[in-house]
Amino acid sequence: MEERRRIVVLTGAGVSADSGISTFRDNGGLWAKYRIEDVCTPEALARNRAQVIEFYNIRRRELLAARPNAGHAALSALELSYKVQIITQNIDDLHERAGSTRVLHLHGELRKLRSSHDENLVVPIEGWEQDPAATAPDGSLLRPFVVFFGESVPMYDTACRIVPTADVLVIAGTSLAVYPAAALAGYARPEVPVIVIDPGDPDISSIRNPVKVIKKRFTVGMAEAAEYIDALFDPGRKA
Ligand code: APR
Repeated sequence: MEERRRIVVLTGAGVSADSGISTFRDNGGLWAKYRIEDVCTPEALARNRAQVIEFYNIRRRELLAARPNAGHAALSALELSYKVQIITQNIDDLHERAGSTRVLHLHGELRKLRSSHDENLVVPIEGWEQDPAATAPDGSLLRPFVVFFGESVPMYDTACRIVPTADVLVIAGTSLAVYPAAALAGYARPEVPVIVIDPGDPDISSIRNPVKVIKKRFTVGMAEAAEYIDALFDPGRKA
């Protein structure tokens, strides 16, 4: 049986926008309402733990009320014909809830908490509200399982090894404003087609690959991208 073509998909907050989840840098986005240094840095957690925990409680409550959208479904359906690996900057679980099976979270996961001392000591959280006094199995206070600004991105090296395996790289719903995630676009083999799905203008100036821009919302653009991918690879060659 012939090896299936490999599709690597780098996603950001825009893919969850039509599920009612706020993006960060669009008008009215999260960083227009909150200061990063108040809710998304290790210093903020040390200085004002209650505010940081409340910020993620609000986002977790929003997530529990959200549903995957048509774009998540179209991306999940791609697994019927291709080997799909998602690398997401999102901390929501909408890709998984839509049925995608290989999802790497670069910036953590909202529905998990971790030890304050050990980033690998991770526990699930039931419901939306973290008890600020809850402790991890190592006895430390639990904190959101989220990579704050200024913290290392433990899954980045893994992601750097995945992107070069792509036969097509899809970039959807990310402004490509945050590093190191944004640098992943540069790890695709030079001849590999890149498909960008975004109604806005993400920074794709550093991408040297052949780029197909689908200037549409993810809910619509992902299905169009799937058709484009099918046209790239003769469907008969898919095992
Ligand atoms: N469909 C597709 N893309 C959309 C949609 C939509 N419906 N709505 C908005 N977008 C696009 C915007 O045009 C923008 O390019 O999604 C992108 C959102 O960009 P950001 O808000 O910067 O989100 P993201 O790129 O995921 O941010 C990266 O920054 O704050 C950190 O850790 C946080 O993971 C986050 C990282």
